[in-house]
Amino acid sequence: MKFTYQNPTQIIFGAGTISQLGEVVSANGKKALLVTGGGSVKRSGTFERAVSSLNAAGVSVVECSGIEPNPRLSTVVRGAEIARSEGCDVVVALGGGSTMDAAKVIAAAVFYDGDPWNMMFHVQENRKLPERALPIITVPTLAATGSEMNAGAVITDDKTTVKSFVSAKCMYPRVAIVDPELTVSVPKDQTAFGICDLITHVTESYFNGVDGTPLQDRFAEGVILTAMEWGPKAVADGRDLEARAQVQWASVVALNGWVQVGTLAAFPVHMIEHTLSAHHDIPHGAGLAVVNPAWMRFAARSNPARFAQFAERIFNISVRYPLDTEAVAEGINRFEAFLRSIGCPTRLSQVGIGDALLERYAHDTVLVAHDAEGHLPGRPSMSESDIVEVLRSVL
Ligand code: NZQ
Ligand code: ZN
Repeated sequence: MKFTYQNPTQIIFGAGTISQLGEVVSANGKKALLVTGGGSVKRSGTFERAVSSLNAAGVSVVECSGIEPNPRLSTVVRGAEIARSEGCDVVVALGGGSTMDAAKVIAAAVFYDGDPWNMMFHVQENRKLPERALPIITVPTLAATGSEMNAGAVITDDKTTVKSFVSAKCMYPRVAIVDPELTVSVPKDQTAFGICDLITHVTESYFNGVDGTPLQDRFAEGVILTAMEWGPKAVADGRDLEARAQVQWASVVALNGWVQVGTLAAFPVHMIEHTLSAHHDIPHGAGLAVVNPAWMRFAARSNPARFAQFAERIFNISVRYPLDTEAVAEGINRFEAFLRSIGCPTRLSQVGIGDALLERYAHDTVLVAHDAEGHLPGRPSMSESDIVEVLRSVL
């Protein structure tokens, strides 16, 4: 194991912490671009609370609303134009992962020379990471992506329908104000999709990482078990603040880098899902719920020991040795059943996707990330026909 790790984001966690927003932002700027989604923060009263906290601290507010789920490049360009023309000196993201991702790229695009798409990863020659961004403050209203405390962002190019990601040091938020009270209004389906997303963040590194990371394995298992214990409570009763808090803390830990550190893991399930949400605009967590168990069945063939450990430690399934393939299959079946039990889809047809474009999804996925053989990196790496096979198994 060998790694360098630094996460500079300060996290302020707990019910009611949104009241600290003004004070936090005023330490970073005087004119904030307040980035929001399609209106949920206005309906819930969160927007008003944020603006009054900012104004009370002497911070003026310029609004950039209307960030769509699966945010588009054109929206980011619009946001950067507003920030530049208004002279904003700090960016505040108030919303879900889409809003936070757009806000992060807007903050970097303000200083970026050229088309911001060039900062996104798609194995292009002229990729140029942003080196500078306005200070970013995140206030998540949905527990899912972990974007509030990481340097990543996922954006779709509306012209080509390619969804890709960027991760750059300057995009680490300065501060994440994580107030679980803001998530009580999240509907049941989005709550469940968020639980699937956070679990998938840790299963990616658990199954695709290098061997010899026992502590990271236990971190991942802790995140999964916590999400499986508290997630169903948050789905059953959205106003259960304790459940909301535990799920949200799990979502932060799942992708702030602690679990992945030293594992060198690729994220093949995410890469495949991003193509589906790029083409069909489905919620990211719903797409993952379909792809992840199907991918697990595929990957377990070449890495059964790791899946046996998952079955044993997550579902208390007793595994007989030499390796018991029934136990491996049972672990994956139980995981899929858990996703169904909280209301996630597990078939493509349930998210309105048929078999017409399977080859295209595989092609686009590999376009964003591939190794020297043209395969999607992961354990095992996947050819385009492997990706088609996985998707076909869950039509
Ligand atoms: O747009 P509004 O009106 O705010 O409504 C949103 C949206 O319709 C709603 N919502 C959010 N907070 C709410 C609420 N509704 C009621 N009450 C609240 N408190 O939920 C809907 C979905 O929001 P969205 O932000 O799209 O969801 P999520 O947080 O799951 O973010 C998904 C995006 O993040 C990317 C995904 O690809 C997708 O584009 N990801 C970002 C990552 C990162 N930066 O690290 C990693 C992830 O793996 C993921 O790829
Ligand atoms: Zn995700």
